[in-house]
This record gives sequence, C-alpha cells and structure tokens, in this order.
Amino acid sequence: MATTIFERAGGFSAVRKIVADFYDRLLDDVTLQKYFANIDMARLIDHQTQFVSSMMGGPGEVSNDSLRKAHERLNINKADFIKLAGILRDTLEDHGLPDEAVQHIYDAVMARETFIVSKK
Ligand code: HEM
Repeated sequence: MATTIFERAGGFSAVRKIVADFYDRLLDDVTLQKYFANIDMARLIDHQTQFVSSMMGGPGEVSNDSLRKAHERLNINKADFIKLAGILRDTLEDHGLPDEAVQHIYDAVMARETFIVSKK
C-alpha cells in the first residue's frame, strides 16, 4: 500500500511534472525570471525534483550545504524567497496534493531560508 506522499503523488515522473510546471510559473514571473537567465533548466528541474521528492519521503537527499553553494552567488533577497515559496505552494495545490502534504513541503522550504537568502 502506498505510504509516503511521494508514492501517493505517483513517484518521480509525477513529481517532475509538478516541478516543471513550477519553473514555468517562475519563468513567467517578472520579478523572479531574472534569476533563471542562462540557467540549464533541464538540470535544475532534475535537481529540484530530487529535493521535492526527498521532502515527500521519497529517495535521495539535497544537503543544505549544496543548497547554500548553489544559491550564494544569486544574491537572493527575502521577498523573492517568500514569493518563490508561495508559487511552489500554489503549484502543489493545483496538482491536487493533500493540504498536509503541501504544508509539510512548504515548511521544509521555509526552514531553509538561511541557506538561500544572501541579500539582507
Ligand atoms: C528553499 C528554497 C529553495 C530550494 C529548496 C531550492 C533548490 C534548488 C536546487 C536543488 C537547485 C539545484 C542546485 C544544483 O544544481 O546543485 C537550485 C538551483 C537554483 N535555484 Fe534554488 N532553491 C530554493 C530557492 C530559490 C530561490 C528563492 C531562487 C530565486 C529567487 C532560486 C533560484 C535558483 C537558481 C537560479 C538556481 C540555478 C543555480 C545554477 O545552476 O547556477 N532558488 N535550487
């Protein structure tokens, strides 16, 4: 019987669809799209799929140190961090994830602010 959020959501292929939609929405956002200019989006979607899957109880792990290294050069401010987290929550909801699963992932993202935000 499917036990984890990851399994109930349908595994990697389903999570990858959600993450791909999430980045489509980020690239449509006038404030956030600048961060993704010249970024290999296919590679980013793969890495973000690993992160979201691990937050859903699926395999794989993305360390906080690798998150810090990937973001420290981007000069991300708190407002943009909050905005990205909100778009992720909306995307998870629109893909029909149960409220407690959405809240769990959102909290996991918010708990990583110190590793992402470098512009005070
Ligand atoms: C807790 C929130 C966040 C998580 C968990 C997260 C997760 C990730 C992951 C897993 C990667 C791939 C790292 C790698 O390639 O090794 C990444 C890269 C990236 N993230 Fe985030 N991210 C977060 C917040 C943000 C925010 C707020 C922004 C911009 C507003 C952002 C912009 C980017 C960009 C541009 C890259 C590509 C970096 C590169 O390839 O040089 N991220 N993120």
